[in-house]
Amino acid sequence: MEGIAVMTSGGDAAGMNPAVKCTVEHSRSLGYEPYLIYDGLRGLIDNNIEKAGNRSTSGIINRGGTVLRSTRSERFFKYESRKQAYENLQSHGINKLVVIGGDGSFRALNQFYSDFKVPFAGIPATIDNDIPGTDYCLGVDTALNMIRSSVDSIRDTANSFSRAFVVETMGRDCGYLAMASAVTCGAEICIVPELDYDLDKIGERLRIQLEEGRNFLIAIVAEGTGMSDYITRWVGDNLKMDARLTILGHIQRGGSPTVRDRLMAFKFAVAAVESLHRGETCNIMVYRSGNFGTLPIHKVTDTAHTVDPSLIELCKPLCR
Ligand code: F6P
Repeated sequence: MEGIAVMTSGGDAAGMNPAVKCTVEHSRSLGYEPYLIYDGLRGLIDNNIEKAGNRSTSGIINRGGTVLRSTRSERFFKYESRKQAYENLQSHGINKLVVIGGDGSFRALNQFYSDFKVPFAGIPATIDNDIPGTDYCLGVDTALNMIRSSVDSIRDTANSFSRAFVVETMGRDCGYLAMASAVTCGAEICIVPELDYDLDKIGERLRIQLEEGRNFLIAIVAEGTGMSDYITRWVGDNLKMDARLTILGHIQRGGSPTVRDRLMAFKFAVAAVESLHRGETCNIMVYRSGNFGTLPIHKVTDTAHTVDPSLIELCKPLCR
């Protein structure tokens, strides 16, 4: 029986486990022998690879993170390591790979395809939502709900104590998490790499609101701006408010996947296995304007990511 292996790579994201489960089950239903690669690219090199038993993916659908664990392996850049990985796959009879992760992982697997012609299908998964060509990456909805719940709690104490809170969200260089959170959590300020901001205008707007009775405020700042400390000091000094900074950090990566992440995981996973079954070699599963599809890897890696313009418009009033 031909083997299909599934791995998770790069930053973990909620939805990876449902995607692993569905990849295994759908591959099996099409007559493949499913395998699990543990520890991402490092496990591929170190032959941390097991046949997926009938029960190996039960009880994981509700778990956050990835039961296959993940790494960011520098070793995979070396040809000798990739050769070792290829020999490992051959020894198990694995001819196809499903990789659940970000564009860095897809690039690595594309290099592996150039070297050894092992076809792969990529499932986009990162809370940053910054993979070109797809509107959605697994983990985003769970992360947004985690941020929403945290900001709702912060709002309670901010209101009770008449304070300003600056909340820093993850996202690397991408402001998507900050923008979607600022809009849906009712923040007064949003600072992201994608948008210019005007502190004088923000100050004028908020001073009027404070005079009218506002007693607390929330600012959401994307980590990629590096501005969280500065904005916290600025609020304290210019709006004369007691200001606190909360860096949400890795809490945003954890938690049981939401219904949306589970459903998206299943749809991406079926699409990935079907893509390999059709004989496609280097495709990434994407979701664009409400439709699922595939894109050749070069269309993903050669394009710059942009955030949904309608979300940007919703955020603009929070930047001035
Ligand atoms: O890419 C996901 C992400 O959580 C980013 O939002 C963040 O900048 C980075 O990973 C953190 O990386 P690490 O887990 O290695 O600290």
